[in-house]
Amino acid sequence: MSNDRGPIPPHSVISSVWGRAANVDVERGEGSWLIDRSGERWLDYTSGIGVVNTGHAHPKVAAAIAEQAAKLIHGQQNIVFHEPGLRLHERLSTVLDGGPWGVFLSNSGSEAVEAAVKLARRATKRRVILTFRGGYHGRTAQTMALTTAKNVYRGHFEPLPGSVYSTAFPSCFRAPVEARDPAVAGAPGACAGCSCRWEEEWDLTLHTLASAEDVAAVIVEPILGEGGYVVPPAGFLPRLRELTRELGILLIADEVQTGYGRTGKMFAVQHQNVEPDILVMAKGIASGLPLSGIIARKELLDTWEPGTHGGTYGGNVVACAAALATLDVIEEEGLVANAAARGTQMIDGLRKIAAGRASIGDVRGLGLMIALEFVQPGAGDGRVPDPAAVKRVIAEANKRKLLLLSAGSYTQVIRIIPPLVTTAAEIDLALKILEESLDAAGVTRS
Ligand SMILES: Cc1ncc(COP(=O)(O)O)c(C=O)c1O
Repeated sequence: MSNDRGPIPPHSVISSVWGRAANVDVERGEGSWLIDRSGERWLDYTSGIGVVNTGHAHPKVAAAIAEQAAKLIHGQQNIVFHEPGLRLHERLSTVLDGGPWGVFLSNSGSEAVEAAVKLARRATKRRVILTFRGGYHGRTAQTMALTTAKNVYRGHFEPLPGSVYSTAFPSCFRAPVEARDPAVAGAPGACAGCSCRWEEEWDLTLHTLASAEDVAAVIVEPILGEGGYVVPPAGFLPRLRELTRELGILLIADEVQTGYGRTGKMFAVQHQNVEPDILVMAKGIASGLPLSGIIARKELLDTWEPGTHGGTYGGNVVACAAALATLDVIEEEGLVANAAARGTQMIDGLRKIAAGRASIGDVRGLGLMIALEFVQPGAGDGRVPDPAAVKRVIAEANKRKLLLLSAGSYTQVIRIIPPLVTTAAEIDLALKILEESLDAAGVTRS
């Protein structure tokens, strides 16, 4: 950009509402790397909060955006049909098995969640929405009401829209102590046999807070995102699908963070062959351009009368062109398989690094959605959260030019979200930096 606009303004022009994980003055990005104004290279294992699955500024995506922008930037959905939009709708309606599926496109994850809720209420003529505690679905009024990952997201904004009730998500590490199966708790992959009593809680919710016949839908993240990258036991989603079918409750899978190859499948529900009624997508869909949407059973989508939902920018033509190029890159470069392989490499490496460090309570993840949970050594039952350790380790990683994010209700988790194009050598580098950062932050072996 030309510099005839004068000196670059100070950081203070940005609203303080944008909480800050790092302070990089970024100039450009390529693959897994961000390059700042002084030319320093940062290994970006935040992916801009799980967005740039194809890597920063992938040449094929950038070219598709430039080519489309030179032809048409805005082709409003109520007024015209555009080719990128038609092609994207058709392509997305075949990415899930089963169906037939239809697609509705919007701009942000929150907006797509709102669409899912409106569609579920309209299609079922029921009002209540169930959520899982620890879930994150956005920061608009409706999505704040669905979000219970952390009080900062909703606490100061009551009253929130009603008829939303939360029930327990199965977290093996944070299950009530008596619900943990001692045979598996603490072992690698401990979730496999742990019941965590979520079904008991589900039943209680439907005997106390709401009647099943009033429930339009339950919304679930297949893996909790902002809530701490909590991977549920393998049987959870299939059983939830069974229960919802029995009760006529729609199942909304919020795959905003887990989707687009992140977990080693295109969508996380595919690990268990679970078919939701509505799937919400955003983040990775257009490699960073604002685009989101829902894939819904066609007969549900057909209950929406014209005008009952929409928006000026939904299905923007440039974003659709980026989304088509994103799908091409994911397929051509085998990014879903790479996410699975690099994820295994990272988790294996982290388990070795974590061994003997009492401050690391849990190492978990699926594909390239990976977490380290920090606890205060020797305190309580061994699960007392340690947000201070998270802060120190992230700061040490930043000093070594590795970007990481936190998560969890107590900010007690470090989440690792590399672009899906990341290489084996980059994972090794990140592991080396993490080991040094843990040592430097005082998270040492006893
Ligand atoms: C699971 C999930 N749902 C919804 C959202 C909201 O998306 P957006 O920030 O694009 O509104 C997010 C954002 O992090 C998310 O992780």
